[in-house]
Amino acid sequence: MIIPLMDLKAQHAAIEAEIKEAINSVISRGHFISGEEVALFEEEYASFCDARYAVGVSSGTDALYLALKAMGIGSGDEVITVPFTFVGTAAAITLTGARPVFVDILPDTFNMNPGLLEEAISSRTAAIIPIHLYGQPADMDPINSIAKRHGLEVLEDAAQAHGAEYKGIRVGGISRAACFSFYPSKNLGAMGDAGAVVTNDKDLYETLKSLRNHGRNSWNEHGLEGVNGRMDEIQAAVLRVKLRRLEHWNQQRRENAEIYNRLLKDVPGIITPHCIEGAKHVYHLYVVRANTRDTLKDRLAEEGVSTGIYYTLPVHRQKAYQYLNMEEGSFPISEGAARQVMSLPLWPGMKVDFVEHVAERLKAAAETL
Ligand SMILES: Cc1ncc(COP(=O)(O)O)c(C=O)c1O
Repeated sequence: MIIPLMDLKAQHAAIEAEIKEAINSVISRGHFISGEEVALFEEEYASFCDARYAVGVSSGTDALYLALKAMGIGSGDEVITVPFTFVGTAAAITLTGARPVFVDILPDTFNMNPGLLEEAISSRTAAIIPIHLYGQPADMDPINSIAKRHGLEVLEDAAQAHGAEYKGIRVGGISRAACFSFYPSKNLGAMGDAGAVVTNDKDLYETLKSLRNHGRNSWNEHGLEGVNGRMDEIQAAVLRVKLRRLEHWNQQRRENAEIYNRLLKDVPGIITPHCIEGAKHVYHLYVVRANTRDTLKDRLAEEGVSTGIYYTLPVHRQKAYQYLNMEEGSFPISEGAARQVMSLPLWPGMKVDFVEHVAERLKAAAETL
């Protein structure tokens, strides 16, 4: 049995006609930038996140960059985040001119360890970016309260956590702003690149709308120095169709994750995902941890089961970030996670037979090691 890591074609099959119709209606209107689809998507996505405002932008990285810029963060500032994330988080910080400062993650959730924040805060610290990795919210209460005590901004990197909740609050309404990626494989994915910033703060919202559109106040008036960071109409039209299914798709992901949890819980050498109290995990990825990860990955591949590794190298060990001079051993939990994590196949609507087959093959492989 051949099982991919994710199957976008299967996920799209049921909505293909609707998507084509939505794209065709944009083509017939002939209006491709800053039109009604983006405005409607922003309203609908803000409402999905239980927040007041959403600003559609060109990618998740631009969402983070523009949100930091709108908060006034730039050269001379430090922004604290974790090294166990996609490089885009760190790149967004350096794009503003600020410097990324890392704290390690918690070994069980792979999210920011709030206990390490105080010692990382300096007189230059301006903001904290927790990541809701794999679809599970970071432990936001301690992060928000430390930030408040030190007068720091909190910006959530929710690129992998559309619809996730923390203590009953949807991601997007937990801190000053949250950034989302709509990269095609995300829980809510465009058919190209797109992203959004969600916030309850009207001033931040107005600034973001201007920054993403060359800093415009009107067509020929530029009050700010901005960028071309707009979401386009075709992506917004696709996202509107898919947003109507997101709740259901997240539920399907959660149900499949439950099956994996049940079938893998007593398998020797395999650690299944840990959910913190009060968190609603939306399983962008279903990630197990094993010391024998590389062997297990090879065995599964031999049997036609694809797996993924997010991430093989933490950001501080990437060549691009050598200039930060962070040696191996600087963030041992992140480095250990990079050696042990493995994502199992998961997508909305993935057949239970497939989930059972993957779990059974993984169990069989683990039992021989
Ligand atoms: C945690 C995280 N942050 C930021 C990004 C950047 O988003 P994008 O690829 O849309 O620029 C991603 C997406 O890949 C991500 O997973």
